[in-house]
Order: sequence, then C-alpha cells, then structure tokens
Amino acid sequence: MDRTRVRRALAATEALGLVLIRGWARTRRESKGLVFLEINDGSCLGNLQVLVAEDSAAWGGLGEVSTGAALEVVGRHQASPAKGQAWELHAEGLRVLGVADPESYPLQKKRHGDEFLRTIAHLRPRTNKYGAMFRIRSRAALAVHEFFGQRGFCWVHTPIITGSDCEGAGEMFRVTTLPPGEVDLAADFFGRQAGLTVSGQLEAEPFALALGDVYTFGPTFRAENSNTPRHAAEFWMIEPEMAFADLADDMALAEDFTKDLTRRVLADCGEDLALFERFVQPGLLAGLAAMVEGPFERVSYGQAIDILAKAGRQWEYAPQWGADLQTEHERFLCEEYFRRPVIVFDYPKQIKPFYMRQNDDGRTVAAMDLLVPRVGELIGGSQREERLGVLEARMGELGLSAEDYWWYLDTRRFGSAPHAGFGMGFERFLLMITGAGNIRDVIAYPRTPRHLGF
Ligand code: 4AD
Ligand code: MG
Repeated sequence: MDRTRVRRALAATEALGLVLIRGWARTRRESKGLVFLEINDGSCLGNLQVLVAEDSAAWGGLGEVSTGAALEVVGRHQASPAKGQAWELHAEGLRVLGVADPESYPLQKKRHGDEFLRTIAHLRPRTNKYGAMFRIRSRAALAVHEFFGQRGFCWVHTPIITGSDCEGAGEMFRVTTLPPGEVDLAADFFGRQAGLTVSGQLEAEPFALALGDVYTFGPTFRAENSNTPRHAAEFWMIEPEMAFADLADDMALAEDFTKDLTRRVLADCGEDLALFERFVQPGLLAGLAAMVEGPFERVSYGQAIDILAKAGRQWEYAPQWGADLQTEHERFLCEEYFRRPVIVFDYPKQIKPFYMRQNDDGRTVAAMDLLVPRVGELIGGSQREERLGVLEARMGELGLSAEDYWWYLDTRRFGSAPHAGFGMGFERFLLMITGAGNIRDVIAYPRTPRHLGF
C-alpha cells in the first residue's frame, strides 16, 4: 500500500477508504475504550486525528505511543463527526517505528519560545511554527525560479569558493588547507588567498554580457561581526543581472520581483501564513496584501537625508550626507514617513563598492536599496560601471589591483554594455513575509558569531 500524506487525507473531497499514514504523534488522549492520536507528517500544518478502539487490532501497538513517536497506521478514512475537521482515521493496524521517551523528548505539547527552540534546531521543524516556516521557505525558493524562468532569465551557478572580494568590505571567510599557524600561501591548496563568496555578482556579470538576463541563487558568506537579528554569517542571496539595463530597469525589476514572490507565497501558503498572522505578527496578511497592490516609493539618497534631517527627532546617528543610512533611518522612511516599501537611489560613491556606475555629478553612483517595513534593507543593487576607463580609475583610487580583476575588466574591454543587477537576501524576504523578528529563525541551521552548533 502506498503512503497517503496527511495533507491529502485532510483535503479529500470523498472518503479515501483504507489508507496507510506515516508520521509523528503530536498528542495522545485517552477516553473510555478509545485513544485519540493526532498525527503530523510534515506535509501540512494540520494533524490527522486517528481513533484507536479497544477492540481493534491496532490497540496492541499503542503501548509505546507518546508525543514525538514515529508511527505507521493503516486505517479507514472517514468523515469526522467532530467539529473543526472534515476527516478522521479509524485505525485497523498500528506500528511504532521509533519511540520518543516522554521523560526526555523536549517537545511536549505546549508553546516553546524561539530561543529555546534554537538550541534544538534539529527538532524544531517538528513544531507547528517551524514546520510552517520551512514549508514557506521552500515555496518561496521555488517562486524565485518560477519568476525568473518565466521571464527568460538563465540560472547561473556561480562559485562558492572565490578569489575576489566582491563587496570589498574585507568580510571574507578564508578557505585553506594549510595547517593552523602556517602562512605560506604558495603552499596552500590554490596557491593564493581563497575565500567563501560574499556575492556571486562579479562572476554573474560576464554571463549577463553573454546570455542577456541571468540570476544566481545560492549560499553567501560574510564574516561580519554584527550580532543583529538581520545578519547571518551564512545566508542565501538571489542576484539577477541584466544586460542593456539601467538603474530604472533595475528598480522596476526589484519591485516586480518582491511583489511576485509575495503573491506566489500568499496564494499557496495561506494556512501556514495564518499561523504567523495569529501568533507572530498580527496584521501581517493585510500588510502584505497592501504591499503587493500599491507602488513602491522612490526617493534619492539626497532627498532621504533631507527628510530625515527635518523629521524633528532624536537620532542615535544624526543623518548626514555621505554617511550610510542606519537601520533607524531606514525604518523611519518606510514605516513612518512613506508607510510602504521605499527604494533609495543615487548614494554617495564613497560608501558604495567600486563596481557601481558613477553619475555625472561626480559624487554619487547609480545605486539603489529597497527598504521594507520591519526589516529595513531587503535588496541592494546598482547599474554597473561599464566604461573601462572610469572603472579602472575608480579601482585605482580604491587601491584595487587591475591584475587581480583582469577577467572582470576584460568584459569592459570586449563588447561592454550597460547592465544592472541587485541582490536580495532570501532570509530578509522570509522575515518580511512571516513577520519573524530574527534571522536565526528563518534558516534551518543559523550561523552567527560564536554559534556553529549542528
Ligand atoms: O547589499 P549587498 O551587500 O549587495 C551585494 O552583495 C551586491 N553584490 C548585490 C548585487 O548587486 N548583485 O547584499 C545584498 C542583500 C542585502 O540587501 C541583504 O538583504 C542581504 O543581501 N544581506 C544579508 N542577509 C543576511 N545576513 C547578512 N549578513 C547579509 N548581508 C547582506
Ligand atoms: Mg547593501
């Protein structure tokens, strides 16, 4: 007999007859001559109620059934007279596949806090909340490929081990096979400094200048020592790159992409999202629905600084032309001032990486950041500097070696064309769509400073 998933058993439009269910017991309740089990198999948020009667062949297997045990039940799928569920299962056979000692199994039937659940990241997907989270994550990842696939973008797999620090922020983890303490790079595996990628952009650009529209979607690593709820040392980034595109095209893609991803998850993950609406972030669904309907605001960095300076409030960091926007500024702009997602563009060149296209004013670059309520920066991108001379001069100013980037510069030497792209932090998107407050709770096994469990 093939296994029937709980999702199908719960959504059935007619009785399925005799079915085989495998899953984990969530609860066990005794009544006279009857035991009620709730079984979850991860296929959906809901549990299937299983009735085991004293006079059935299944009764004998009940001894070891407690919360968390893995079970196999064969039973008759029938309409349930109980409120709140359409279907239930009348067990005819039951087998325990794996016991869960009630004395030591940490997930008993009560709500556990996020911090505690982080200490058992290997078990938390068995809770309602984290089961829902990781189904949403999976759906959203698929939506990324649907969006770009339907628009004719080619998926490029950029490397994880790399020799170039794309963002130039010195946040690369080093990759080496040298014994601890040894520093002779010539004797190292690659014979030169290697690291984990901080962005696939530099490697994606040459593909945009060959295939037109491309994107990468993969793990990204940053050794920034910022212990915030929005930074992880390992996260996933989606980076589209378009040839023959400028900053306006880039901003339009960022807006369309964010809305499209949100719509797809809203359409397919209603039940799981409702849990977050109810227990994590009341108002979440209305906020997301409004977000996909209305236009995103667009404001230049200069205008943003003016707005912040005139806001008449005490900032921890005074807004000042030439300084990076802080989280308090970003959140003020989208949560209080505009009350919608905001794209800030044309940032001062001194706070942005070498590859961004210089504007004619000589002091700003064609950069853009998409800021969203609660999360702050969701996307960062730019039009790229396609003019060889301007790019070389900027690299010189920043002390970057033209030799190291010879292949990148080649793309400006041969058939260079205007192009633009951006990076979306996938976990930041999940923070936005679930209302979760901490990046550690939207990734299976979070990596942050001093945390490498699991
Ligand atoms: O703004 P960033 O640094 O931009 C880039 O890396 C560009 N090369 C992207 C491009 O143009 N192709 O990072 C892009 C996004 C941020 O907006 C943020 O959402 C996310 O990546 N991000 C992080 N997410 C989690 N933890 C971190 N430590 C992150 N650092 C950046
Ligand atoms: Mg950024």
